[in-house]
Amino acid sequence: MTAIRIDGNALAAKVRDRIAVEVAALKARGVTPGLAVVLVGEDPASQVYVRNKVAACAKVGMHSVMHKLPAATTEAELLALIDSLNHDAAIHGILVQLPLPKHIAEKKVLEAVAAHKDVDGFHAENVGALMIGEPRFVSCTPAGCMEMLRDIGMTDLRGKHAVVVGRSNIVGKPMAMLLLHANATVTICHSGTKDLDAQCRQADILVAAVGRPRFIKADMVKPGAVVIDVGINRLPESEGGKLVGDVDFDAVNEVAGYLTPVPGGVGPMTITMLLQNTLVAANRA
Ligand code: GUN
Repeated sequence: MTAIRIDGNALAAKVRDRIAVEVAALKARGVTPGLAVVLVGEDPASQVYVRNKVAACAKVGMHSVMHKLPAATTEAELLALIDSLNHDAAIHGILVQLPLPKHIAEKKVLEAVAAHKDVDGFHAENVGALMIGEPRFVSCTPAGCMEMLRDIGMTDLRGKHAVVVGRSNIVGKPMAMLLLHANATVTICHSGTKDLDAQCRQADILVAAVGRPRFIKADMVKPGAVVIDVGINRLPESEGGKLVGDVDFDAVNEVAGYLTPVPGGVGPMTITMLLQNTLVAANRA
């Protein structure tokens, strides 16, 4: 059996078309949704991500501003910029690209973003709202994964076992919470999990968010499972230098029922959910 591909590009295009229509309607009422993207330092992957985010805003008719700060920017300088964006009426959403340079306390910065402009869903207030089942802004990658599940008809996950591999604040933890709210039985696995392979094999829905290239092998996947690959890993030049996910795609493709590709899977959905959150923020403003 070959898995059915979940096409993130196609789904993202469909959702973005709908967002563009809603942006136009909001503009007609005198409000242009605005996103501020803040990048500190020169991390090459982050530079690509923020460029894509800004370009995506333009395509749906949103206003966006990019703040590129040098790696030597102090924490105080960054906090001052966030404070000014918090008070800027043209900005409805603020995104501080991670990772930040080591000398800046990430937690302090994420908490400085006004919760009602926190379109990344990283502020403790938004994380807490998700935890109690009253989500406001939800982290974009897990939100995008849930859209993909909905798109293949998996809305109520009652009776399904979901296994999330990875426990990050950005993906693993919010992903587990969203799956739980959709009534799945959820297992969170991580580097300290015993017999990870057996845990994964129980999954009707397997979400890989480990950040290790081709980590999920075919023998870790239950035949027919839905496999969502959140990983974006650049292979070394000696191995071809291409982008691969956390899932060994070719092998898992022969076992899974559904599979997301990398690139063209979760990535475009993450940016789409950022646009969606910014639209919601502008609507509330
Ligand atoms: N770095 C990796 N993923 C993300 C994300 O979703 N948001 C931000 N701000 N930084 C990231």
